[in-house]
Amino acid sequence: MTSRDTDWDGVRLHVVTGKGGTGKTTVAASLALALAAGGRKVLLIEVEGRQGIARLFDAPPLPYAERKIALGLGARGEGGDVYALAVDPEGALLDYLAMFYNLRRAGTALTKLGVVDFATTIAPGLSDVLVTGKATEATRRRVRPGAKDSPHVYHAVVMDAPPTGRIGRFLNISSAVSDLAKVGPIRTHSDTVAKVIRSPQTAVHFITTLEEMPVQETLDGLAELRSLTGGAIAAGGIFVNMVRPTMLDPADLAAAAEGSLDIQTLATGLKTAGISDNHGLAADLATELREHALQAGLQDKARAQLVAAGRPRYELPMLPDGVDLAGLYQLATAMREQGAA
Ligand SMILES: Nc1ncnc2c1ncn2[C@@H]1O[C@H](COP(=O)(O)OP(=O)(O)OP(=O)(O)O)[C@@H](O)[C@H]1O
Ligand SMILES: [Mg+2]
Repeated sequence: MTSRDTDWDGVRLHVVTGKGGTGKTTVAASLALALAAGGRKVLLIEVEGRQGIARLFDAPPLPYAERKIALGLGARGEGGDVYALAVDPEGALLDYLAMFYNLRRAGTALTKLGVVDFATTIAPGLSDVLVTGKATEATRRRVRPGAKDSPHVYHAVVMDAPPTGRIGRFLNISSAVSDLAKVGPIRTHSDTVAKVIRSPQTAVHFITTLEEMPVQETLDGLAELRSLTGGAIAAGGIFVNMVRPTMLDPADLAAAAEGSLDIQTLATGLKTAGISDNHGLAADLATELREHALQAGLQDKARAQLVAAGRPRYELPMLPDGVDLAGLYQLATAMREQGAA
């Protein structure tokens, strides 16, 4: 697979959000596989401590450490590596202390004393900064630390982020911390994190299905992103997940929806296919088709609303047998074909 232009070439931190259950974890994982095509190294980060990534890849629970979890999309030898990391606020706090104060050993003592719990419960904003801080640190990390001319360790970082309801607050770093720390190292840290989040290197992608509620949450999420940060945090693409194929052409769909399909024609069709219409099968089929047509109509309406949002859009099929590793690569291929990676 050769490198070519994609819709997100300048983006190195991909934040994946959406309504709960629409496929954030699935799509984040597939996006990581797609971005890792062509020998690239990609980090997939989970932030909610639910071990969804490990489960998806059939791997043991992820520690607070970057572990290779899969090969990127591509023929043998062509795909790069996908690493995975589960970030939790405690681990991120200890990491932060280690980075800035060389307090790695003190960390265990702090945990035992409950200081970590204390710090993260007292200031929820702080815990978000620590977690996103880990993602931005990985995004900025260079092969030779601190050397601007040195290549980045990761070509891209993909974050399986909180759902749309919490994403605005989660990413609106500086405002969360500004009450907490006006000066000092935490402030400096949060400013650095906010700078990355608000740079063209970061994009927030929305995952939705073609249903009313997830579509509404996507539109609301896009609006919140604009209003909270005045456009400082860039919206990415809309990934329409679990799209079901439409089985009839538009004219037949319209007829099926209004119940005007010709039963006799259906019966003849069944007969041609070698199925007898003894028990009113054609009438049952017409009812089924009506359901299907109404469903397709709703999908079209939802899609039109998403089109109006004016963001790049990618459609990912409903995998009939559920999501396994092969399914993740299938979704990754669909993303690549549509220019998402
Ligand atoms: N394209 C798809 N085809 C079939 N099943 C899918 C597809 N995408 C996701 N699923 C299934 O839908 C369910 C929800 O997916 P996933 O866990 O990725 O969603 P999520 O948004 O991360 O959920 P949560 O809000 O709980 O974190 C899972 O069972 C997953 O296997
Ligand atoms: Mg999830």
